[in-house]
Amino acid sequence: MSRKIVAGNWKMNTTPTEGSALLRAIGEGLKGYKGPAEVAVCAPFTHLGLLSARNVAGIALGAQDCSRHARGAYTGEVSAEMIKACGGRYVIIGHSERRMYHKEDSAQLLGKIEQALAHELSVIFCVGEPENVRASGEEPAWHYVEGQLAPLQALSDRLSAHLIVAYEPIWAIGTGRTASAEDAGSMCSRVAKWLTRHMNPPADGIPVLYGGSCNAANAKELFAQPGISGGLIGGASLKADDFLAIINAF
Ligand code: PGA
Repeated sequence: MSRKIVAGNWKMNTTPTEGSALLRAIGEGLKGYKGPAEVAVCAPFTHLGLLSARNVAGIALGAQDCSRHARGAYTGEVSAEMIKACGGRYVIIGHSERRMYHKEDSAQLLGKIEQALAHELSVIFCVGEPENVRASGEEPAWHYVEGQLAPLQALSDRLSAHLIVAYEPIWAIGTGRTASAEDAGSMCSRVAKWLTRHMNPPADGIPVLYGGSCNAANAKELFAQPGISGGLIGGASLKADDFLAIINAF
């Protein structure tokens, strides 16, 4: 059995003040929470110091990217060490928006993962197929995702203890078109099986999250799928009530 995780991805939303209020509202709603989910909020870099000073119980903080370099002359970059020092415990790596808008490739992503894991951040590594690939069926979609997973084989066992994978079909992100629970469950199970088989040495129990228009109405059905260990939540993580309902869907 893998851990249950619900992680919010705030993307480029909220000012630090707004983010702080949102975090407080989520924290209020989680008071007395006895459910199985670990809760994380991946906020903009600019918010991390402030949010971690708020010290809200039951919510781990994370970032949405990190540099593949340790430190140095990389203008605009933010290192894993900085994220950790600002209170971050998680980092999203390889989100489709970073792959698309910043042309992040497998070699770069592996460097980022190695940096994050070296600083003991939990990595939420994102994979997922575009719409034209899914249109040809699950097998082509799976081959696409398998190709995105391949670089993970270079990680050692010590590192895989901090690894989480999020399956996010690109056509479902921010579109309101969630994958069916069966399709999402099937892909997440295949990811989990692949991880068990291909990590070196084999790694069991790596959580696989579903992401892509997961919301208060569909979370229960998605999380009931045996292959799904939780969710990476974009739009619905920006409203405390919706995010709380998703956490309570377990
Ligand atoms: P969404 O985003 O929930 O708004 O579809 C998910 C994500 O991009 O991680």
